[in-house]
Amino acid sequence: MRGRIRLGVLASGRGSNLQAIIDASRAGRIDAVIGVVISDVADAFALERARTHGIEAVFVDPNLFEAREGFDAAIIDLLRKRDVDLVCLAGFMRLLSPPFVREYPNRIMNIHPALLPAFPGLHVQRKALKHGMKFSGCTVHFVDEGTDTGPIIIQAVVPVLDDDTDESLSARILTHEHQIYPRAIQLFAEGRLEVRGRRVFCQGIPASQQDERRRWGMMNP
Ligand code: GAR
Repeated sequence: MRGRIRLGVLASGRGSNLQAIIDASRAGRIDAVIGVVISDVADAFALERARTHGIEAVFVDPNLFEAREGFDAAIIDLLRKRDVDLVCLAGFMRLLSPPFVREYPNRIMNIHPALLPAFPGLHVQRKALKHGMKFSGCTVHFVDEGTDTGPIIIQAVVPVLDDDTDESLSARILTHEHQIYPRAIQLFAEGRLEVRGRRVFCQGIPASQQDERRRWGMMNP
C-alpha cells in the first residue's frame, strides 16, 4: 500500500480550504498529511488554523525579496526540506514564477472559484453575476505557468440564483470547494491522475462503475 503523501499548503487568507484539507487528513479521508503551511501574509488566519492543529506554519515576507524569483526560491527551499510531494494553493493570491512551476511539474494544485477557463483571476463571482451566468462553480486544476490555465482535475457546478449576491454565490461555491479539493488530493495520493496534454484522466475506475467513470471529474449541484 502507498504511504501517506506529504502536502505543502500555501495560503494568503482565512484558510477555509486549508481547514477542509486538515479535516480530511485527520479523519483519514485522504492519504495525505500536511508537512507545512506557508503564507505571504503575516496575520493570515490560515497560519493560525495550522498552529491550532500542530502543523508547522511559516510566514515568508515578500518584502524581503527584490524579485518574485527570490521569494519563490525561499518557499521552494522550505518545501524541499520538508520533503513535500504535492503543493496545494489554497487561496494563495500570488502567481508562481516559472522556476517554481518547473520544480513541481503537475505536482501543484490550485482551487479557483469559477468554472475555468471562464473567469480566471480575481473577483470572479462578481464577474460571473455581472455577466448573467446561470451556472458557476469551482475548479481544481494543476498549475502551469499561466494564470489559472493549467489542466483541470475536478469541477463542481453551482447554479446562480436570481437573488444571489457576490457573497451568497461565493459562500455556496465555497462549500463545493471544500468537497472537491480533498477529493482531488486523494486521487493524486492514489496515483490515479494522468495528465495527457490539457486533459486529466482518472485511472483505475472499474468498468463496472460506469456512472462514476463518466462523471468522476464533475460534481453536480
Ligand atoms: C477561495 O474561494 C479560493 O477558491 C479562492 O480564494 C478563496 C480562498 O478562501 N482562490 C482564488 O481566487 C485563486 N485565484 P479560503 O482562504 O477560505 O480557502
